[in-house]
Amino acid sequence: MSDTAMPSRTSGCPVAHGPLSSERTPTGCPVSARAAEFDPFEDGYQQDPPEYVRWAREKEPIFFSPKLGYWVITRYDDIKAVFRDNITFSPSNALEKITPTGDEANAVLASYGFALNRTLVNEDEPAHMPRRRALMDPFTPEALRHHEPMVRELARSYVDRFIDDGRADLVDQMLWEIPLTVALHFLGVPEEDMDTLRKYSIAHTVNTWGRPKPEEQVAVAHAVGNFWQYAGKVLEKMRQDPDAPGWMQYGIRKQKLHPEVVTDSYLHSMMMAGIVAAHETTANATANAVKLLLQHPQVWQELCEDPGLIPNAVEECVRHNGSVAAWRRLVTRDTQVGGVDLPAGSRLLIVTSSANHDEAHFSDADLFDIRRDNASDHLTFGYGSHQCMGKNLARMEMQIFLEEFTRRLPHMRLSEQRFSYVPNTSFRGPEHLWVEWDPAANPERRNPALRAVQVPVRIGEPSRHAITRPVVVERVTPVAEGIVKLRLVSPDGKPLPRWTAGSHIDVECGSPERSRQYSLCGDPGEAGVLEIAVLHEPEGRGGSAWVHAQVKAGDRLRIRGPRNHFRLDESLAKAIFIAGGIGITPVSAMARRAKALGMDYELHYSGRNRARMAFLDELAALHGERLQVHASDEGRRCDLRALLAEPVAGAQVYACGPLRMLEALEDCCAAWPEGALRVEHFESTLATLDPSKEQAFEVELKDSGLVVNVPPGQTLLSALRAANVDVQSDCEEGLCGSCEVRVLSGKVDHRDVVLTRPEREAHNKMMACCSRACEGRLVLEL
Ligand code: HEM
Ligand code: FES
Repeated sequence: MSDTAMPSRTSGCPVAHGPLSSERTPTGCPVSARAAEFDPFEDGYQQDPPEYVRWAREKEPIFFSPKLGYWVITRYDDIKAVFRDNITFSPSNALEKITPTGDEANAVLASYGFALNRTLVNEDEPAHMPRRRALMDPFTPEALRHHEPMVRELARSYVDRFIDDGRADLVDQMLWEIPLTVALHFLGVPEEDMDTLRKYSIAHTVNTWGRPKPEEQVAVAHAVGNFWQYAGKVLEKMRQDPDAPGWMQYGIRKQKLHPEVVTDSYLHSMMMAGIVAAHETTANATANAVKLLLQHPQVWQELCEDPGLIPNAVEECVRHNGSVAAWRRLVTRDTQVGGVDLPAGSRLLIVTSSANHDEAHFSDADLFDIRRDNASDHLTFGYGSHQCMGKNLARMEMQIFLEEFTRRLPHMRLSEQRFSYVPNTSFRGPEHLWVEWDPAANPERRNPALRAVQVPVRIGEPSRHAITRPVVVERVTPVAEGIVKLRLVSPDGKPLPRWTAGSHIDVECGSPERSRQYSLCGDPGEAGVLEIAVLHEPEGRGGSAWVHAQVKAGDRLRIRGPRNHFRLDESLAKAIFIAGGIGITPVSAMARRAKALGMDYELHYSGRNRARMAFLDELAALHGERLQVHASDEGRRCDLRALLAEPVAGAQVYACGPLRMLEALEDCCAAWPEGALRVEHFESTLATLDPSKEQAFEVELKDSGLVVNVPPGQTLLSALRAANVDVQSDCEEGLCGSCEVRVLSGKVDHRDVVLTRPEREAHNKMMACCSRACEGRLVLEL
């Protein structure tokens, strides 16, 4: 944005607008020139919505669009805040026509008795949640599993039809029809004429989220009217046979039990809206995903080589280039979002695709990274009490499509083409997707058995355990008695991810089931190299023994990460580093970083004897007098109590070592300010869950409006997943902190080793993989 006009600020508008137009917002604030120009029906938005509103995300995150008559919201936190509060921000306008139609089109719609009303997605409380709860069971991961063989068989047979052609429009020849067939099957609708339904559903999209020209409006209205009547007829047929399988029949049966919750108007409206919700979203999402992957041939190659990456790749595609670009809400009372006043009655266009590119939430947000840790934080499925119920069906379909393509057509590439989109604010995917390949090189011609190979589908949020990357062992160096250092590099010259001091990686020690965490100990400044030091622990669980016995230079290993749960606060006045034994690994990287930053620090390193202590010479050369070595056999034990007797203003203590040392440190630091002691544990102290000793408890999920029971034999994490609530996780043994959830009330029985004592006592967060309720109920911000 150029700065040719005076920036303006008025109360309730914290934004410096830059050049202004002559227009004003409903609150009397001047409208910036960019905001005045904003037009989501233009090609710029259609081609790339997050790019089109980049200026807003960066400079004017909430603005009023005079052309649309909506406030447009572009940042992650603001959009999530809107999703969280479905009373202040009603979803009632979600299916409203964004462009009002003329009298003639309205008359056409009326002539069909068109009365699309509240379904779920546009229903307010208190009607919505009881209905959602009543209709939820067919979406549980367990129920969805039954659909997997059908989706796979469809995908396989459609690929069969064109695999020898060398060229296909994937949208026309596969990606439109299969999600439609799956949607009809899921809903329980007999498979009707697909082409007619395709016309109907595009008309519904244009009618709801588009800007049809006056001459198109009448044709659209006829199609939508016909769709409405078709939905009514199908529903009548279903009522004759309510015991048949299908979500709509499930609804009809629920209506008998709760007629006030599952109403006639709901069923008819859902019959129509459901086809679109389940079908177009998924068809578009897959077309966007295949396009994005083929635009990144290296990434495509990696996916072909390692199908285990597919679930997270799906999530990253849905984040980076999702099929729902924006959603809507209506403000029901005067309020503020991101400091901007929004009066009751304001209409909001929440650009979820822009939130998904918000640097404040996703690092290097524009980068397409199929190993991204938090890809599933995207808002393409919405969030909270209205979050997409069908997300796991969509994820399953997309995984199967990508698995079929990567296995059977790994040599597929994009044809030259210009992509076109049906102009509308929300539903987004290319109308055609031409791809080509050399049929003579089809892997099945050499190995026909490939057609039938299948990788199990992951139902639900992707697991971090599958996000691995190959590395090559460049060197194995003994660095002390019983300790070897491995220097790991990329196998193909592609850069390895950057890492920060305190990070660790997970190494698959011989098999995916034997995965062990090792802290990185090299120089964070040295790009493209990862170094770990492994202590041989004969009494351990076999990981270190495997490394010592098997690993040699030139071997390929699979790793996950790097990830950092032990971050150095780089703004500190002083850092006191304490390492015991092999705990020197992360601490050495931190001390190196502290030195590079010019920070004041000291490093205390304890061990049984010098021969068993790694890196002594290197540490002495680097840190000089700042290093204190405490070897027990020299009678120089580290007196932690004396060392930490007095809290040092602005200092933090970073420690890694045996559990006994870390526990002693907690006591020694009792007088230090909250959070001054940061520790990294090697191993969990968590016992396996013993149902005979555990209590059941309930969690109330504030954002989702649900209550979930956690029985004695189940973790909170698995109970949440079974209820279709996404929570990230990694170690699942209380070590890493990735499954942290916020606790709004109730007392937590903490069992992790991540939280500090003051954090535990505050009872405002917990690790879902292991911790439980002390008694009764917890209220969580989920
Ligand atoms: C709601 C996106 C697939 C059924 C939603 C919402 C979005 C969305 C943005 C509104 C969320 C909110 O207001 O917080 C998507 C995307 C899909 C997809 C991007 C595919 C990639 C599906 C499928 C089904 C489905 C396959 C059904 C089988 C629903 C239902 C709701 C919904 C029933 C309403 C939930 C409620 O309001 O309580 N979806 N959807 N969706 N979706 Fe999906
Ligand atoms: Fe690692 Fe829960 S998943 S602490």
